[in-house]
Amino acid sequence: MAVETIKSIAIDEARLLGELKTLSRITDCEQDPAKPEDVAVTRVVFSENDMKARAWLKQTALAAGLRVREDAVGNTFIRLEGTESELPVVGTGSHTDAIPFAGMYDGTVGVLGGLEALRAIKASGLKHQRGIELLMFTSEEPTRFGIGCIGSRLLAGTIDPEKADALLDKDEVSMAERRQACGFKGTLASVKLPEHYYSAFVELHIEQGPLLEREGVALGIVTDIAAPAGYKFLIEGFGGHAGALLMPDRKDALCAAAEIILSIEKNALATGSINTVATVGTCDVHPGAVNSVPSRVLLQVDIRDTDPARRESVMQRVRSEVDEIGTRRGVKVTETKVNADEPAQSSAHIVGLVESICQAEKISYKKMVSRAYHDSLFMARIAPITMIFIPCRNGVSHRPDEYSAPEAITQGARVLAATLAQLASE
Ligand code: GLV
Ligand code: MN
Ligand code: MN
Repeated sequence: MAVETIKSIAIDEARLLGELKTLSRITDCEQDPAKPEDVAVTRVVFSENDMKARAWLKQTALAAGLRVREDAVGNTFIRLEGTESELPVVGTGSHTDAIPFAGMYDGTVGVLGGLEALRAIKASGLKHQRGIELLMFTSEEPTRFGIGCIGSRLLAGTIDPEKADALLDKDEVSMAERRQACGFKGTLASVKLPEHYYSAFVELHIEQGPLLEREGVALGIVTDIAAPAGYKFLIEGFGGHAGALLMPDRKDALCAAAEIILSIEKNALATGSINTVATVGTCDVHPGAVNSVPSRVLLQVDIRDTDPARRESVMQRVRSEVDEIGTRRGVKVTETKVNADEPAQSSAHIVGLVESICQAEKISYKKMVSRAYHDSLFMARIAPITMIFIPCRNGVSHRPDEYSAPEAITQGARVLAATLAQLASE
């Protein structure tokens, strides 16, 4: 069945690449004239450009004869009906929001590749009992509210809806206010999906790492998604005039922050495992003037591991060093947990299905771990999942020089379509 299915699926590469390009132009950041090959994309959730991208996506889906609905947080569902509308549906999807100065493929390959897969299945005339639904998740990226995958967390019921509504952005505006201003009304509790809504969920994504390209493998089939966690450290010291405040009298919050950052790096490296990664990606310095001793610093920490116990043991060692740094430097350090998630495992059945499609089509593949997180991490709490990875040049992602070859994108969309079609007939 899988073999016949894939033979009848035709992906329109020109259309898919054209749509990726169109979407990439909806961006908040300027392009660098010195790097004409790069495409810099910034598209933060609930910004004007996020709303423009959503409007364009909905219109494109409607033009393809698909049904569109949105929930109270703006998760967008694009549906191709099956012959038995009461059956749980097969899902696919990803995100269109983008961190500052990102590239044009992260998330968008899964959304537009998914849209192309739905159109290709529709055009093939294949009969499928189950509906197939493409999801564009709200706020996969943590840029605005400090926590990623808000849309999928709400769909899976793994975040308290009231807490989600109370999340603040850097302008101290809440999620509730932001989403309602964008027209997403209703309660966040209503976002949670009914039990067994999806019979299966498969996300197409660029690998965001170097392994497929390095090993000359065409496709990755994800078996596990590593467990992410996020923390904030607020460091409060004693600031003042950069010329007049004597060195022995200082409690410089930024100097303490520097030691904390190095402690995080050192302890992540100390596990000796390639699967432990830790990053301090933001550092807000108050008052942020060249001639003022920093009095307050906020760090955002991102730490991930395939083994959440090892991740926690790194944090324990960091905490004891933070205590020592705080005491020695006379600064107050307050830690806040943003999230500490469990890893996810893929469904052996769906992994096997993607493998059989690759074998039938003589596509080289590799089973692999996703070290990046994705909305599939949370969809795995409510449905059997896997992810399909395509190579990206030099493993680069979250940068304007992110690139995946047209053939890889088309092949990924085709394997996705075959997988969805097969799952929708089971
Ligand atoms: C997703 O963007 C991640 O940070 O893994
Ligand atoms: Mn990303
Ligand atoms: Mn992504």
